[in-house]
Amino acid sequence: MTEALLEIKGVTVSFDGFVALNNVNFSVKPGEVRILMGPNGAGKSTLMDTVIGKVRADQGQIFFQGKDISRTPEYRITGLGICRKFQTPGVLENLTVKENLELSARKSKGFWGSLKTRLSKEETDRVSEVLKKVRLQEKAVMQARHLAHGEKQWLEIGMVLAANPPLIMLDEPTAGMTVQETALTAALIQELAKEHTIIVIDHDMTFIELLQADVSVLHMGKMLCEGTLNTVRNNEEVQSVYLGRHKEEAHA
Ligand SMILES: Nc1ncnc2c1ncn2[C@@H]1O[C@H](COP(=O)(O)OP(=O)(O)OP(=O)(O)O)[C@@H](O)[C@H]1O
Ligand SMILES: [Mg+2]
Repeated sequence: MTEALLEIKGVTVSFDGFVALNNVNFSVKPGEVRILMGPNGAGKSTLMDTVIGKVRADQGQIFFQGKDISRTPEYRITGLGICRKFQTPGVLENLTVKENLELSARKSKGFWGSLKTRLSKEETDRVSEVLKKVRLQEKAVMQARHLAHGEKQWLEIGMVLAANPPLIMLDEPTAGMTVQETALTAALIQELAKEHTIIVIDHDMTFIELLQADVSVLHMGKMLCEGTLNTVRNNEEVQSVYLGRHKEEAHA
């Protein structure tokens, strides 16, 4: 059996007594795309925060490439090759598309590497490759603030790619996207999956169907169900969680 790239074992996280993650087990194999679903407040973003060391687990352990990183500082975890795109955009608006990517390419070298003024040949090649992958080649010298919403999201995915990490975590990459942009994003993620392991948080069923990947469902800090999209859809607990949510929305 292949060793997991990321393995979360019995992780519990509380914020001032509120249990945001409750004894969560979660594991992802190298080369896998995994979707993380769950209603608002389920703990999805917190799980990502815990992996990158932004939030500390009260209990449990997190292994990356077999190494326990539960106590590793956040800046070192990034250096190990875990990169996360946050739910809220982190693009630098006044820099051009290319400059944003160059910055990420440098950052992946750690603090000292990022002080270097010039990019290595390898970094420059990587930036051009990423520009192509995220379909922003023609907008390379445009300031990021002039990009359309969907393009900004792609630039952010590009910034993660420029750092070339083995594990990529994307928190709601299709938020606010049109149907067309969402479909393009699914294609982009499948393309990226050839070289990276990817965890995607998303709610959009059309997008999830397009990705054709296994799904894990979190609910109130607990891992409710895992499996293929069909298994998860037919799970009674998942149905009641989502039906309950739809009822709430209807009353809102
Ligand atoms: N730093 C924090 N301090 C206190 N409570 C927090 C903190 N971060 C998250 N929480 C709480 O933990 C719970 C889980 O939050 P989290 O952001 O992980 O949910 P989520 O599944 O990502 O939801 P959404 O779909 O809305 O993004 C929520 O009730 C949230 O209010
Ligand atoms: Mg979230």
